[in-house]
Amino acid sequence: MTYKFAIANEKGGVAKTTSVVSLAGAFVERGLRVLVVDLDPQANLTLSLGVKPKDVEQSVAQVLLNSLDPMEVIRPTEIENLWLLPSNAEMGLAERFLPVRQNYDAILRSALNGNLPYDYVLFDCPPALGAITLNAITAADMLLIPTQAEYFSAHALKSMMGTIRRVREQGNPNLNYRVFITMYDRRNRSHRTLMEQLQTTFGNEGLMETMIEIDTKLRESPIVGIPIMYYVSRTRSAEQYRALAQELIDDVETIKERAVPQSA
Ligand SMILES: Nc1ncnc2c1ncn2[C@@H]1O[C@H](COP(=O)(O)OP(=O)(O)OP(=O)(O)O)[C@@H](O)[C@H]1O
Ligand SMILES: [Mg+2]
Repeated sequence: MTYKFAIANEKGGVAKTTSVVSLAGAFVERGLRVLVVDLDPQANLTLSLGVKPKDVEQSVAQVLLNSLDPMEVIRPTEIENLWLLPSNAEMGLAERFLPVRQNYDAILRSALNGNLPYDYVLFDCPPALGAITLNAITAADMLLIPTQAEYFSAHALKSMMGTIRRVREQGNPNLNYRVFITMYDRRNRSHRTLMEQLQTTFGNEGLMETMIEIDTKLRESPIVGIPIMYYVSRTRSAEQYRALAQELIDDVETIKERAVPQSA
């Protein structure tokens, strides 16, 4: 059974796309088959995997707006066992035209509903809580929220929590969520204070133990066009994304075990 993650935060620049690429790389290293879906009109994920959006003729936009079969759009990447459902500028239309449809927030879920040849699917969302992000969270088993340990980022988490309640009430009652800290700077006292506040607010269940620290190597990764661990295997952020991926793999196993009925 395919397990789906939506990586979302209405706040911009909190490492959503970086985390999608790096977690996907770490999952593949562990032998999993992974699909990443670029839902952002900026197409940063597509670019980060070495594909130019202007060369993408059919994108996730046709899947959402014209009911195109996603299997016709999904392409392999340079990394074995990693596939991409790319975005292009046409995704700019989705935010405007999706809400006109009936049940518009469930379109992505229906499109990826069948038996998929992947262990994990990761949705990279734009920095807004609009129709696209709602589609991703409705299609997901788990919402993963990257956040910086900074005041405005922590503030944005409040509206993310409201969205979780809304999506749970409207058709995805089993949605799980996890928060994790990105771009952490240990020497920064306010980062430490906010990290402690997040621990108090979300506890061990909601907040991932692994934090991703600042690592300038990560800024090069989109230019190289492959996940960080495939070109600087031992850098700190590669190791931290591996640890985060392992924590998630363990969490997903526990969630799946709990979902099995007692009598089984
Ligand atoms: N741990 C890190 N250390 C240093 N730089 C980082 C780290 N994580 C991400 N970055 C850099 O921060 C910037 C924003 O990251 P990214 O594009 O992944 O964020 P995003 O949340 O997807 O942004 P948007 O909201 O625009 O989609 C990028 O330049 C990225 O290379
Ligand atoms: Mg992004």
